[in-house]
Amino acid sequence: MGNNRFALLRGLVVIFLALHLVHGDVSYSIPEEMKRGSVIGNIAKDLGLDLGRLSARKARIDTEDNNVQYSGVNLSTGDLIVQERIDREGLCAKKASCVLKQELVLENPLELHRVSIRVEDINDNSPQFKEESLKFEIQESADKGARFLLGEAHDGDIGENAVQGYSLQQNDHFKLNVNTKAGGRKYCELVLDKELDREDKTEIMLLLTAFDGGSPQRSGTVVIHVTVLDANDNVPVFSQTVYKATLPENSPLDTLVITVSATDADEGLNSEITYGFDHVSDENSNTFSLHPKTGEVKVAGTIDYEKVSSYEMQISAKDGLGLVSYATLIIEITDINDNAPVIYLKSLSSPIPENVSPGTEVGIMNVQDRDSESNGQVRCSIQQNAPFKLVPSIKNYYSLVTTGQLDRELVSDYNITITATDEGSPPLSSSKTVQLSVADINDNPPVFEEQSYSAYVTENNKPGSTLCSVSARDPDWRQNGTVIYSLLPGEVNGAP
Ligand SMILES: *[C@@H]1O[C@H](CO)[C@@H](O)[C@H](O)[C@H]1NC(C)=O
Ligand SMILES: *[C@@H]1O[C@H](CO)[C@@H](O)[C@H](O)[C@H]1NC(C)=O
Repeated sequence: MGNNRFALLRGLVVIFLALHLVHGDVSYSIPEEMKRGSVIGNIAKDLGLDLGRLSARKARIDTEDNNVQYSGVNLSTGDLIVQERIDREGLCAKKASCVLKQELVLENPLELHRVSIRVEDINDNSPQFKEESLKFEIQESADKGARFLLGEAHDGDIGENAVQGYSLQQNDHFKLNVNTKAGGRKYCELVLDKELDREDKTEIMLLLTAFDGGSPQRSGTVVIHVTVLDANDNVPVFSQTVYKATLPENSPLDTLVITVSATDADEGLNSEITYGFDHVSDENSNTFSLHPKTGEVKVAGTIDYEKVSSYEMQISAKDGLGLVSYATLIIEITDINDNAPVIYLKSLSSPIPENVSPGTEVGIMNVQDRDSESNGQVRCSIQQNAPFKLVPSIKNYYSLVTTGQLDRELVSDYNITITATDEGSPPLSSSKTVQLSVADINDNPPVFEEQSYSAYVTENNKPGSTLCSVSARDPDWRQNGTVIYSLLPGEVNGAP
């Protein structure tokens, strides 16, 4: 129908209304989305019109507001039939009542009837979420009971056919709390029911379903994507509670002893670990270094087994925000044969009388080696060409003992060399010389050079003149070797 003609008709309607020529109204109620050609009702019968004259009177449906011909009249049957798609949501959106207003026009004479078609909702729309997924970032430290508002689902239908409720996929952490707004619309919240643990699960996917109350019921879903954010809830953990290492003494500076390591299940700064010594006594603090980032323990001072044979230290691992844990580091130092034996002369009887019997103890020696085990096991030897030997005594003591008769007149001084050798590899040795002198004993009688002396004396010699000289020798020392001459009393031919 042309616009001009439509305008003309509207003018006529006003006139006829004014003249009370409108004969009566009719109303129908139909569900939306009926197929084209479906019968709404028999309008001829409902208005009491003469079926045979419908065609002659050009019975037709006009629309009030727009020119979409939703319905039409079957002139031969008098049925009001669906002519265009009637979509309640398209016509009335959320209006509770949706009435399509049309007019039945007949000519000759002009007659006008209001036809109201109430369009009933059918459940032809599913609840729908606007977003493809609902994203949340939740701190793992969030408390139980924390709430997170979820978006609403929309459903083009109304009443029971609109969204009636929500349901959440079964899961370990969240439950759903559904509330009703003023006006009856439902919305829901995600409620934390059991605390999150990022180290256990970083991402959680949940399906949220919105359903309507229609029959059959329709529903729509959305994925809730929860990213669990880290909180510093994990302490660094050392790979071992006790670290043990062995290190030879005299190891040079920077020798790597051991590498300790700890891990932290958190992420980012929460998992950045710094290593350090916890309590280090002053004398040990400079012996080793611990790299704060790599955990490498290195030699930083002098390692002397003889001073400290084992170190025990507490080490700590601290994460970025200060959670700390501890482990023990034990470093055993192994011995190196770096100390030669040392001979100490504890006592010496010198000089010793030459007449001492064989087996007399003339000195006591002590031998020490600061190394351990075989590195500290010492054997002592004595030079061969002297009448002395070493007799091992208790522990590392030795007696220096004569092995034969001494004779000062033959050897008056001995330089005795004693050598001590350890059993290390390579062995180390040292020696000591003991000076021993032999004291005199008056054990040699004087011996005259001749067995008898004969002298010839001239007569009348003066008293005091020399007759002859005698000589005796004694190899003993000093007084004991000093010879004193004397004549024994005797008579010669009866005269003294
Ligand atoms: C013993 O050693 C001392 C000093 O080294 C030396 O004067 C002396 O002659 C030595 N004696 C012997 C018997 O070798
Ligand atoms: C001489 O010998 C005696 C023992 O026979 C001894 O006691 C004394 O010390 C000796 N004198 C010297 C000077 O060696």
